[in-house]
Amino acid sequence: MPLGREISIGQLAARTGLAVSAIRYYQAQGLISSERNAGGHRRFPRSVIRRLSFIRIAQQFGYSLDRIRAELASLPENRTPNQADWSLIAGGLRGELDAQIAGLMAMRDRLDGCIGCGCLSLEKCALYNPEDKAAKRGSGPRYLMGDSSDEI
Ligand code: FES
Repeated sequence: MPLGREISIGQLAARTGLAVSAIRYYQAQGLISSERNAGGHRRFPRSVIRRLSFIRIAQQFGYSLDRIRAELASLPENRTPNQADWSLIAGGLRGELDAQIAGLMAMRDRLDGCIGCGCLSLEKCALYNPEDKAAKRGSGPRYLMGDSSDEI
């Protein structure tokens, strides 16, 4: 049976594959909204299907709910992301993923020097403090603590 313009939470769950409790949670977080019909039941606009798809995809890419909320709020009239919106957001996400991949590859390359070593020396280990450059950022394994070698 085709969906109407407004759908119940059960229809929304069936269509998106999300649990009803998850949909209620997203609503409580202010990411989606509904109206109440005469019987007091939630009725969601069909566009919420696309909005939930966006939320799930963004979460898979590591976006926090705060970040997702901010992305949604940045759209005109708080609309559901359309094709152009998603294309723009995905482009930004691609850049972030590229930076993360570059950081992980650099970490992997430094790890190569540890294979077969095992010293975990604060002076010698490239993961802890390569060439002692990270010392000015503080003690400890600066790169493992989140500092980027580009910042040092
Ligand atoms: S464990 Fe020895 S260099 Fe990293």
